[in-house]
Amino acid sequence: MRSDSLLMKNRLTKWHSAYIQNAYHELKRGTTRQQLDVLNIKATDKKVLDVGCGPGNLLVELAADAPEHLIGVDVDEVFLVFGRSHIENSIEDLTVTPTFLRASLPTLPFADEIFDLVTCFLVMPHVPDDSVALLELARVLKPGGTLAISGHGFGFPLRYLKRLRLKPLQMYLATLIYKYIGKKWIRNTLQSDKEICALLNNIGLAPEVRHYNQKVLGCVSTYWIKAIKNETIPKAIQ
Ligand SMILES: C[S@@+](CC[C@H](N)C(=O)[O-])C[C@H]1O[C@@H](n2cnc3c(N)ncnc32)[C@H](O)[C@@H]1O
Repeated sequence: MRSDSLLMKNRLTKWHSAYIQNAYHELKRGTTRQQLDVLNIKATDKKVLDVGCGPGNLLVELAADAPEHLIGVDVDEVFLVFGRSHIENSIEDLTVTPTFLRASLPTLPFADEIFDLVTCFLVMPHVPDDSVALLELARVLKPGGTLAISGHGFGFPLRYLKRLRLKPLQMYLATLIYKYIGKKWIRNTLQSDKEICALLNNIGLAPEVRHYNQKVLGCVSTYWIKAIKNETIPKAIQ
């Protein structure tokens, strides 16, 4: 085992292990591919950035499309190390080897307008400010480029209420605090997909596809949005 892997193994928490296991299952079941397909996302010949790549399941699917260039960034080094081995073990003939970088949204270490496709799945709940994060994703995207994002809606915690855990209540409370005070208390907020679409429109990204996996008591559990960056940026943010 490489020394960086050994170092990281000591920092591998139960949550990391569970997330990595889940990512493997999602890859095997084809769920990650379906998420891209439903948005009609193909990475072929594109310069692609996956923000908050976690263990790299999205990168595995994107790499299979043979992009021109593929970069995964995450704030968590443990995921970056295990994400790399995940990719190496999952694809035999990689046409492109992804680059992994440690970086935190909303401060991405890239020039303006260089990516054709930016993916950012399930990261919005953790960023300190939704609008600032979306602006940063838009900044690195070429005009005409595609942003694909996903996050949890108000129905998500309801799936866990049966287990009577504190987490669902924390999520609702964190979401209320963010809405009324503007601070993410524990970084685990829920978003209304309609609000995210409105924010995207404000910063010059036109939502094209909006999809939910399921609704719980009429509330969206997880949403996916594909948006295209306008060729001209609205005057308000120039
Ligand atoms: C729920 S996981 C999603 C992982 C992956 N995108 C997926 O769909 O399976 C959230 C990921 O976002 C990362 N993350 C959280 N806040 C971040 C930030 N501000 N910038 C970059 N990555 C972040 C976490 O470390 C974690 O890997």
